[in-house]
Amino acid sequence: MVSPAEAIDEDPAPGAFLLTLTAAPAEHVLPGGDIVPGYAYNGQTPGPTIRVSLGDTVTVTLVNQLDQATTVHWHGLVVPWESDGATWMLGGVAPGESRTVTFTATKAGTFWYHPHMNTDRQVDAGLYGVLIVEDPAEPKVENERVIVLDDWILPEPDNGALDSQPPDSASPAPPHGGDGGHGESGAEGLWLVNGLLAPTVEMLSGQSLRARIVNVSNRGYVLLGGALGAQIASDQGLLDTPQTPETLLLAPGDRVELLWSLGGDGFTVWDLPYSHAGGAGVGEPEALLSVAPEGDAAAPTPPTFAHPGEAVSADPGFTTLTYTFAGDDGAWFINGEQYPEVTVGQVIAGQPVVIEARNLSAVEHPLHLHGLAFELLSLNGVAPTARTVEDTLNLRARDRARLLLTPTEPGFWMVHCHILEHEEGGMMTVLEVVEAP
Ligand code: C2O
Ligand code: CU
Ligand code: CU
Repeated sequence: MVSPAEAIDEDPAPGAFLLTLTAAPAEHVLPGGDIVPGYAYNGQTPGPTIRVSLGDTVTVTLVNQLDQATTVHWHGLVVPWESDGATWMLGGVAPGESRTVTFTATKAGTFWYHPHMNTDRQVDAGLYGVLIVEDPAEPKVENERVIVLDDWILPEPDNGALDSQPPDSASPAPPHGGDGGHGESGAEGLWLVNGLLAPTVEMLSGQSLRARIVNVSNRGYVLLGGALGAQIASDQGLLDTPQTPETLLLAPGDRVELLWSLGGDGFTVWDLPYSHAGGAGVGEPEALLSVAPEGDAAAPTPPTFAHPGEAVSADPGFTTLTYTFAGDDGAWFINGEQYPEVTVGQVIAGQPVVIEARNLSAVEHPLHLHGLAFELLSLNGVAPTARTVEDTLNLRARDRARLLLTPTEPGFWMVHCHILEHEEGGMMTVLEVVEAP
């Protein structure tokens, strides 16, 4: 299995990356040969991987060839808010039109991009891609794979479209819950890896492999299990300390980077049973992908990444904002409100903010902040054992998380659940960052 094809820089000057990203209807060929209509960026799903260096200026012209308005959002990166792709006070790019946005890549890591209008349908239809910001100081690893996980519903006579919904479907999205990332209850869901079913990554033994894994599913959770190697990064780049987890939960929107240093033995990474309504996991373990090293060279010494090694921050004790996630199928709320009828919170650039997020509903919600990375101070009163910096954090039922952040970029930032049917259903609010007086 190869990584999605990368975007070609249209600007030869160093330090600048220029790209035209065209969103257009496309036909997706599923494993087994079914062809289903959807959307794609530059004719491919996943869209072209944008690979830039730390500090680069990135300029992207989004060309909209869809029959509906769209935008492109840079998930996990702090960009000027006018370039963030959210539609609050800006609106979208109408069919047939284009818009150019620009930002500086200020953080190394694995990010992704996707529309932020009719988001559940447009992402479901195949509009998503990966954005990698490389730090030239990081060691080079012989093998790297970009691994994009999406769960698809195979076409049935009365379904006829890729993933779970045709892009223009007016029918309500099926509710999530209890399917454990193994597809929708009542429908045959299938996790595809870069569009392939249980593919094999080929490489040479005696080498290392860096896997940049992104869960782009609308609502599917993946509980990774098997030989996971070393976890070197999560949402916001390198971890402060590398971890060796036995399982790893990827909620919608989450990223993780794993590093394997392999001898001759291959292995399989599994999607384990999981329930995002609490209780026992649902379904059977399913093979997600396999790694098959060729030859029998001994495992090398893994490359050393410069993990910052910072300690978990102390909780400053105050609470700036509280976000309460509540509701049930059909109506989802943050602080009792539904987007766009929301109270816009306000914080000041450069001043520390503590957010307390509570999930009062019976199912899980991945909390996502635009333009604001945060450190997890505590979950249900317990501080994490290692510093955890994220932009997407899964809240289990009844969870109470305390988050610390210092806003840098003035503007209007979305705060929402990354189960996209919940987000489109109103589980989204706005946080304004204002300049210091
Ligand atoms: Cu992937 Cu509003 O975000
Ligand atoms: Cu985002
Ligand atoms: Cu939700």
